[in-house]
Amino acid sequence: MSTDYRLDLPRRPRRMRRTAALRALGNETVLQPANFIQPLFVIDGDGAPEPIESMPGISRLTIPHLVEECRELTALGIPGVALFPKLDASLKSEDGREALNPDTLVLRAIRAIKASVPEIAVITDLALDPYTTHGHDGLLDPTSGDLANDATVEILAEMAVLAAHAGVDMVAPSDMMDGRVGAIRASLDDNDFEQTAIMAYSAKFASAYYGPFRDAVGSASSAGTQQLDKRTYQLNPGNRREALMEAALDEAEGADVLMVKPAGPYLDVIREVREETDLPLAAYQVSGEYAQIMAAAEKGWLDLESCRDESLLAIRRAGADILLSYFAKSYCQALSSASATR
Ligand code: PBG
Repeated sequence: MSTDYRLDLPRRPRRMRRTAALRALGNETVLQPANFIQPLFVIDGDGAPEPIESMPGISRLTIPHLVEECRELTALGIPGVALFPKLDASLKSEDGREALNPDTLVLRAIRAIKASVPEIAVITDLALDPYTTHGHDGLLDPTSGDLANDATVEILAEMAVLAAHAGVDMVAPSDMMDGRVGAIRASLDDNDFEQTAIMAYSAKFASAYYGPFRDAVGSASSAGTQQLDKRTYQLNPGNRREALMEAALDEAEGADVLMVKPAGPYLDVIREVREETDLPLAAYQVSGEYAQIMAAAEKGWLDLESCRDESLLAIRRAGADILLSYFAKSYCQALSSASATR
């Protein structure tokens, strides 16, 4: 075999891929700890962390462990955490009234973090699914059996004020009710919380990738089902124009950050929302996206670290400024040990 043959090419893109240094200079997408929010599951009591079977490496934490975790995340440079409470079944009800208990688990968790690690941004979901026996994100209308939009929004607006009182930095309505961002903004402002920000789950699709999360907070099992059908409020996975409309509505209603969720299967939507808004854009790499990489890696079918990194980079490249990911901590730990050995 001879290697003498020469093409006459004006451009040879491989020149910039030849060495690690040239590849670094040609790199277009940088993902840093500052881009991440780590989602965390919270349980009551003072017991040990409870591993979540369908999310290897992730556990539900009691408040003391949660505070310690926030310290570690801060040391890694991760600026935010999103809290998800898993309530005891005895606290769940048809109308989710525990959500308005001023001493409910998630509010105690916010206060504990803000007392010990005040520099980390604390974000909480606004939705009723951790609190309802049926696992839906709002109140059920007894006649239609569907979610009662406006009555749910009224509760979310009250939840926002309770979270703001506890010291939350951002509230994240994840319910997909119409008009909720505007109502939450008005309710926060009326209660002198005009500095509390809103990160709107704007384009949240009715996705099968939320399965492991529903194990983690027990929203599906309390409803006695594996499959919660949320298609009357979450978006049809085939609809990109509707996703853009939802994002525009949330922006007009006063959202500070928009979000697309899930992330990996919706990279096109991330890119399109990025092009339509000047607001910071978040994307949520959800529990099922995490679980599929972990499961394949456990079987030895995929390399964990490189698939983790590639999946995160793709979301950033698509245009997300902020990544909510269960890989946040492990990615940032790998970054910091790589820089320590350099
Ligand atoms: C609840 C909520 C869900 C997630 C975040 N907030 C699940 C759902 O809508 O049923 C999913 C997150 C994940 O899968 O990691 N409103």
